[in-house]
Amino acid sequence: MQPFRGCSVHAIMCGIVGYIGKRQAYPVLVKGLHRLEYRGYDSAGVALINPSGRLNVYKSQGKVSDLEDTAQNQDLTGCIGIAHTRWATHGEPGYKNAHPHLSESGRLAIVHNGIIENYAALREMLIGQGRTFKSDTDTEVVVQLIEHLQEQDHLSFPQSVQKALQMVHGSYAVAVLDKQQPDTIVAARKGSPLVVGVGDDELFLGSDASPIIEYTNRVIYLEDEDMVILHMPGQDCASGRAEQAVAQIMLMTIRGERKTPQIQRVSMDVSQLEKGGYDHFMLKEICEQPQSLRSCLQSVKQTLSGTDAERIFSLLQSANRVLITACGTSWHAGLVAKYAIEQMVRVSVDVDYASELRYRQPVINNGDIVIAISQSGETADTLAAIDMAKKQGARVLSICNVIGSSIPRASDEVIYTMVGPEIGVASTKAFTAQVTVLTMLALVWGHRRNTLDDEHYTYLMQELDSLPDKIAQVLDHKEAVRQMAQTLSFASSCLYIGRSYNYPVALEGALKLKEISYIHAEGYPAAEMKHGPIALISQEMPVVTVATSSDIYDKLVSNIQEIRARQGRVMAVVNEGDTEVERLADVFVEVPRVAECLSPIVNIVPLQLLSYYVACLKGCDVDQPRNLAKSVTVE
Ligand code: AGP
Repeated sequence: MQPFRGCSVHAIMCGIVGYIGKRQAYPVLVKGLHRLEYRGYDSAGVALINPSGRLNVYKSQGKVSDLEDTAQNQDLTGCIGIAHTRWATHGEPGYKNAHPHLSESGRLAIVHNGIIENYAALREMLIGQGRTFKSDTDTEVVVQLIEHLQEQDHLSFPQSVQKALQMVHGSYAVAVLDKQQPDTIVAARKGSPLVVGVGDDELFLGSDASPIIEYTNRVIYLEDEDMVILHMPGQDCASGRAEQAVAQIMLMTIRGERKTPQIQRVSMDVSQLEKGGYDHFMLKEICEQPQSLRSCLQSVKQTLSGTDAERIFSLLQSANRVLITACGTSWHAGLVAKYAIEQMVRVSVDVDYASELRYRQPVINNGDIVIAISQSGETADTLAAIDMAKKQGARVLSICNVIGSSIPRASDEVIYTMVGPEIGVASTKAFTAQVTVLTMLALVWGHRRNTLDDEHYTYLMQELDSLPDKIAQVLDHKEAVRQMAQTLSFASSCLYIGRSYNYPVALEGALKLKEISYIHAEGYPAAEMKHGPIALISQEMPVVTVATSSDIYDKLVSNIQEIRARQGRVMAVVNEGDTEVERLADVFVEVPRVAECLSPIVNIVPLQLLSYYVACLKGCDVDQPRNLAKSVTVE
């Protein structure tokens, strides 16, 4: 028997939707997939059980709209179904590997998010039992195993799913249909999120709450190794008697231990999932930052002054060292926090990419505090870094935007940013909220430790409150940024430079540009230009500089002069009335003055807009840039 040598095709960073109830399932499933499009994907599929008990599966490579084209004129009837969007990691995206996958007899259908690590051994075992496979996916191994257990061990549908999940190693969020049980969906999670929506006489599944909330705000966040049976006895679409069916939820672990479902209410509303008249979610989320920051400020003030505060500061007060860990934009927020915490709290702060921290065998001592920053709360590397740090005795505070997501649940304490769902893949309002939360944490923490005196504390708290209006002022000058974008859109590469608190802003501005306009951009501390990058300066290499007032403003002006002296083109973010830098720059955008430690929150906004307008000029897919996903749940 030749061992299986094909590379497994895993289904990760995907979207899952499920429905059973009084409505026709297909419209609910497809709309739910559209709600999950922001997660990034390259194929989509749906499985429905029609009133005659036939299991219909439709799949397509490409967008959800391609799936709708494939499925139109087909039999789309039925009140029960599951659906999936897949982001290819191993193996080409395509029909063969798209979900749902069927068992050999065609009786079962499964959708899956995660990695089954022992798929090869299970596949060989099943082939040894005479089973044949159509795809290279680890997911097909699971559905074949379930059917094998049904037939060999004469297990019920839920029991066969339960036993199969006890046999697999790895991570999963799965939903399974059995056409012989058209009133039941079985679902489970371990390491990949899955949410149950509880409606009136209807039940939903989603990788997050966004496919669910227009029908109900009552949800159950499944925990790792939870299995749930969604059952609608008396469910009979043929006669339309679905209305008489009563939804039943049976929650247990994959080992069969019964659990009581904890129903929570989601504060999100469906309007937050719509573009609201904007061309793109990214522009909407940039422009809603005045409101989102007001919401964030109100929430974090409450958190840092109420009963939560005592738990958070009792965790922090023992800190000898703070270790901040995150990925991407969230890592940039962590860099800003380093400056703020060290200056205001006088505690040592290290900042690590989570993907590096988890493997570099760091020295972590009891008393060290890890601050994990994540918009989605599902970033695999950040989650793994937290687990590693906790095993070494660290306590964890997470800063997150998605209530009930995996990272807050793995943390000792959490401060939510409360800016509502961020749909655009490029993170914008989450960044300004993260920096706001972290800066306020530093302020309150420093004031409690008497490393920040009353006068500074009071002044900076007032400055924090002025942020929404100052960002609104920046948004009133979008046209100046659009002009700047005209120039930048012809560049093939550019530099972003800043110093001190605005060095991370340079990094974040560069990330925004490259991830949505595909122009190479690099962020640098401005003083580092002389140590290499100045060799790049030419007419063809624009330099974007963040040059607002700071303790080292004069040194930054010198850096700009060095660039100008070598015919470099300078685009500057400057404070209103700063004629010195305006004279040096080819183009500039003015922003209101604010305390330096808060300036990243204002200064990043023109750079968010700049990347947006450049991407639009280049005709890029702003909300779903190529190769990217909103939540990187792969390592
Ligand atoms: C930022 O625009 C990117 N979408 C990406 O770098 C993101 O910040 C990173 O993947 C971290 O995501 P998280 O905040 O959800 O953990």
